[in-house]
Amino acid sequence: MKDDFGREINYLRLSVTERCNLRCRYCMPEEGICKKSHEEMLTEDEMMMAVEAAASLGVHKLRITGGEPLIKKNILSICRRASAVEGIREVCITTNGTLLPELAPALREAGVQRVNISLDTLDPAKYARITRVGRLEQALAGLEAALSAGFEKVKINCVLIGGFNDDEIPALADLTRMYPVDMRFIELMPMSGNQEFGPEAFIPCSCVLERLPELEAGSRHDGVAQLYKLSGARGNVGLISPVSAHFCGECNRLRLTADGHLKPCLHSAEEYALKGLDFAGMRRQIQTAILAKPAMHRPLSVRSRSLTGRAMNRIGG
Ligand code: 5AD
Ligand code: SF4
Repeated sequence: MKDDFGREINYLRLSVTERCNLRCRYCMPEEGICKKSHEEMLTEDEMMMAVEAAASLGVHKLRITGGEPLIKKNILSICRRASAVEGIREVCITTNGTLLPELAPALREAGVQRVNISLDTLDPAKYARITRVGRLEQALAGLEAALSAGFEKVKINCVLIGGFNDDEIPALADLTRMYPVDMRFIELMPMSGNQEFGPEAFIPCSCVLERLPELEAGSRHDGVAQLYKLSGARGNVGLISPVSAHFCGECNRLRLTADGHLKPCLHSAEEYALKGLDFAGMRRQIQTAILAKPAMHRPLSVRSRSLTGRAMNRIGG
C-alpha cells in the first residue's frame, strides 16, 4: 500500500523483545529495562496476525529485531511461521550475533534468509566498553557461525562514533576482504537516551570516504545504504547516513514494537496500538499508520534529538 506521499510501504520491522543480553551505550540504559508484565507484550499469535495483516496490505519484507531477538525462547517458531505467511518473500534478522553459534543453522532452517550482525569495534576492550557487558570473541564466533550456516547474505552493522571507532575504519572495512560480508557504517543517531555522547561523537559517514579514498563508488543503492567497494573485496562497504542525509523520501518501512505499537516514523512519538485487536482491527490500524507516515522527520543533531520517546531497544532500530 502507498502512503500519502506515494511511497510504497512494503517492509515491516518486527521487534520481538525489548530485552537484550548486551547494554550498548547508544541504545539502552545500563540497568536494562523495567520488567514488563507479559500481558502488555504481543503474543506469538498476535505477532503472526500482525504480519499476516501487513502482508495483506503489500508488505513482503520482514525484519525481525529486538532488543536482541535471539534471546526470545520462541524465536525459531516466530521465524518459521513468519516465513510461511502468504506474501512474505523475505525474512531477515538483526542480531548482536552472540547467540548465533548455537542458533545459526536452526534459524536458516526456520526460513531466515539474511542476517545483520552489530559489531562496532574489533578491539576486545572497546567492545566490552561500548556493550558494557559483551565479549568480542562471542560476536566474532557468531559471525563465523552465520557464514557457515549459508545465509543468502551476511551484513555487519557498525555505528560510527567519533573518538571511539573512527580509528578502526580501515580495519573494519577490511572485513569485506576477509569474508563475503557487507560492512555498513551507520551514523550515530542522537536519541533522548544517549546524551552521554557529546558533539564529537556524531561524525558523518563522509569520514569513511576521507579515511579510505580508495573506496570505489558502486552505482547501486542497497535500501538505505550507499554502496562502495575496496579493490579485491568480496563484499561492499555501505554508508548509512540518517543524520547527515536523511532518506525519508525513500522510506518504505513500518515498525512494530514488542509491546504492540506501530510506529509510522522512527523519530516520531506517534504510535498505533495493535494489542488485543482481531485481524480486521489490526489491518485497519496498519492502514491508519501507513497514512500517518510523515513526509520526513525533523533534522537530527545533538541539540535536536529524536522525538521518538523510546530507547532504541524498545523500537528495534
Ligand atoms: N544510532 C545508530 N544506530 C543505532 N543502533 C542502535 N542505536 C543506534 C543509534 N542511536 C543500531 C544497532 C543495530 C541496529 C539495530 O541499530 O547497532 O545495528
Ligand atoms: Fe542490544 Fe543491539 Fe541495543 Fe546493543 S544495540 S544493547 S546489542 S539491542
